[in-house]
Amino acid sequence: MCGIVGYIGKQKASTIILEGLKRLEYRGYDSAGVATQVNGGFELAKKIGRVDGLMKATRAQKLPGTTGIGHTRWATHGGVTDANAHPHISSDQKIAMIHNGVIENYVGIKKFLLTKGYTFQSETDTEVLCNLLAYHYQKEPANAEGSRFLEAVRKTLRHIEGTYGIAVMCADCPAEIVSARKGSPLILGVGDGEYMLASDVSAIISRTQNVVYLKDGEIVHLTAKNFTITTLESEDVSPVIDKVSWTIEAAEMGSYAHFMEKEIFEQPLALENTMRGRFSEDGSTAVFGGLNISAIDFRQVDRFHFIACGSAWHSCLVAEQLIERFARVPVEVDYASEFRYRNIPLSKNALFFAISQSGETIDTLAAMREAQRKGYKVLAINNVVGSTIAREADGGVYQHVGPEIGVASTKAFTSQLLVGAMLALYIGRMRDMSFSSGIEYVKALKGVPDLVRETLKLAPQIKDIANRYAHYHDFLFLGRLTLFPVALEGALKLKEISYIHAEGYPAAEMKHGPIALISEQCPSVFLVSSGEMFNKVLSSMQEIKARKGKIIAIVSANCELPEGLADEVIRIPECHEAALPIIATIPVQLLSYYITVALKLDVDKPRNLAKSVTVE
Ligand code: G6P
Repeated sequence: MCGIVGYIGKQKASTIILEGLKRLEYRGYDSAGVATQVNGGFELAKKIGRVDGLMKATRAQKLPGTTGIGHTRWATHGGVTDANAHPHISSDQKIAMIHNGVIENYVGIKKFLLTKGYTFQSETDTEVLCNLLAYHYQKEPANAEGSRFLEAVRKTLRHIEGTYGIAVMCADCPAEIVSARKGSPLILGVGDGEYMLASDVSAIISRTQNVVYLKDGEIVHLTAKNFTITTLESEDVSPVIDKVSWTIEAAEMGSYAHFMEKEIFEQPLALENTMRGRFSEDGSTAVFGGLNISAIDFRQVDRFHFIACGSAWHSCLVAEQLIERFARVPVEVDYASEFRYRNIPLSKNALFFAISQSGETIDTLAAMREAQRKGYKVLAINNVVGSTIAREADGGVYQHVGPEIGVASTKAFTSQLLVGAMLALYIGRMRDMSFSSGIEYVKALKGVPDLVRETLKLAPQIKDIANRYAHYHDFLFLGRLTLFPVALEGALKLKEISYIHAEGYPAAEMKHGPIALISEQCPSVFLVSSGEMFNKVLSSMQEIKARKGKIIAIVSANCELPEGLADEVIRIPECHEAALPIIATIPVQLLSYYITVALKLDVDKPRNLAKSVTVE
């Protein structure tokens, strides 16, 4: 949800910033812009559309300067126009600003600034913040101790309600950037004779692996030679420089056509990384190093609450079923955005899990804070190391799948399914699950990467089906028990990247409404496993067939389907029920991917979406 980049050093800032912005495009791609510091003023280029468009448009404009800031936008306040693109420059030309977040009290501030003679070119909240900083800067005594620019930023931010990750330059302060965060991510890269600021590590990883994860309420002041971190209350902060564990290759597409394709095919490795070192020596249970809660306390939990958004929420629905089935502890799953306002009664020994790939989703973060405010512990299942949710959680599990760049979640989702399955094992083994069932369960999970490898070999068959079905406008995805959340995920994947209307339902529920949609024009994707539900799902398929609906069946290897019932049959390997949702997810990912490719749409950057949603 908007990406920001800043650079200060010896190189041409605009080149480095544009490269960084390209890597942050998954956060928003409505418009992009760069400003550099040149001769006591700013050079500015900004434009609606992608970073590539900005690069082309600015080829003639050299954008010199070794200090600069850049932004890629996901529009909130104000439409997608060149004027609303960032950076914004104050009407007195003193301040240039980029911003990720939402300033909630901008209306009142704007009224005040208008009375002081400030003028506005855009409809954005950011331009208001930028002018408020210009106002405080001109009021700040020139001979004050310390940096007048830094003090003005501090005073400005004290008046702000809402969220921000900002980077600002001042025309009077060559080779200086001030940057701050509250509720939006911000990382400082400490390079060789240079510093970078970014919303995310991927923007700076080509230049340095040394990073400082800034916390809410911290302000970093960069000059060409050093940096200081202080708080809004002017306290000094000693920086902790962390080393990022992955390199630039992980954030590049290699020989794949899209990040989504790469991330789908990376899943065997990603799942191996999620599991690595997380089984007990006797091979009968899972081990988590970072839960920060003793086994005895864990044993006392009488209800688990899972909170998440989007695909992560679907993974919670699977975890719910596995924990209830294997550990016999009740689980509640809530959309994070709803949980916060529902004020549900909570038992004394409840424990929360917040699931978020990015660790920055504001709805999940806000729900997590609400649970913590009530005195509950919240553990995070999260992929991005150092993210806000990871840092504010009381403990948790990192997914370790490397950067996920395609906007549609794939490897992070299956890894969340895996962590959920491992939690069910861990909790189950504390209760009634026997040693031998534990051994069998662990063996099954260890076999998942190979089963995923095998399932990925279905890609050519699924591509062929996708080419033949890409022209349909509506799809149903149907499954039962743990395959119901996979149906929801399949429908979400298809609609988010191909813009085809799709709905996920429990297969039997289909007859209570969605069946009205069935005709030759609305195919159904059935997820079918062997086991107790098999015959019931067959009946649902018959009901569709009787109404001339086309059926694409994703079925476990041993299921025998009546001749002619399904129009297309995709056979996935037989597996343990804890592994099943992961294996069944692979074909629905491939189906939506290849349909989108067939429709020639932008797989990695679907319209209107952003990967990391940092506004409520
Ligand atoms: C956005 C993305 C979804 C994602 C959801 C939650 O809506 O488009 O793909 O599942 O956010 O993201 P998180 O980073 O919290 O898992």
